[in-house]
Amino acid sequence: MLEVTGLAAGYEGNDVVEDVSFHVDPGEAVMIIGSNGAGKTTLFRSVVGLLAPSSGEVRYEGAGITGVPAQRIVRLGISFVPAERRLFPRMTVQENLALGAYPGRPDPGTTELVMDLFPRLAERRRQRAGTMSGGEQQMLAVGRALMADPRLIVLDEPTTGLAPKLAAEAYEALSALRDRGLTVLVAEQQVPLAMAFSDRGYVLENGRIRTQGTSAELADDPDVRRAYLGIT
Ligand SMILES: Nc1ncnc2c1ncn2[C@@H]1O[C@H](COP(=O)(O)OP(=O)(O)O)[C@@H](O)[C@H]1O
Ligand SMILES: [Mg+2]
Repeated sequence: MLEVTGLAAGYEGNDVVEDVSFHVDPGEAVMIIGSNGAGKTTLFRSVVGLLAPSSGEVRYEGAGITGVPAQRIVRLGISFVPAERRLFPRMTVQENLALGAYPGRPDPGTTELVMDLFPRLAERRRQRAGTMSGGEQQMLAVGRALMADPRLIVLDEPTTGLAPKLAAEAYEALSALRDRGLTVLVAEQQVPLAMAFSDRGYVLENGRIRTQGTSAELADDPDVRRAYLGIT
């Protein structure tokens, strides 16, 4: 579904991710794990069209999308949820959701689907986004991404700023998305949660993929256990 080959990207001529290759098959949940500064956000931004890669290739459903702008990538079926969420705090839940369908009109069926998936958003549809809890804002960010009716959802550290219980809830919501047939790519520092959720993963260190495997294989890897699971 998504195939990234030899990707490099960075800022002002300095690559911070280099020679990154990975793929996501339809229906899979795939994680990119790495500590703060490893290059996860830079990698995702260059995949979803928010940052132009300096080399390498991104293919989606068989077509090259390298360097294609973000708005077009959304229309091809890839929605991105940034770690900082980027909601409009003074707008209501419903208005923020409607913007996820932009430039199209919000589809009533899709809106209902999102409300079904996140009843808390339905209860708060007229509340301003900025007055909601961190967990609810994360739900809204995911809900807004779903309004574009994606086949692949790309989430950058969905647990950012969430207390442990809410972080676990965020992953429960992602499991519900998978059950509905969505393909998920997620970047995380909170590795245990991502690992329990994902089928496979890649470890990004200093801008390069160091190792990869099924989640079970990675959970057994002594280096991964030491560095990311706190097990010695
Ligand atoms: N806008 C930017 N301009 C310059 N350097 C940046 C910018 N964003 C990130 N970086 C640098 O790129 C590296 C990788 O950052 P990032 O992709 O945010 O990693 P992660 O998401 O894994 O924490 C870091 O050294 C960071 O300082
Ligand atoms: Mg990041």
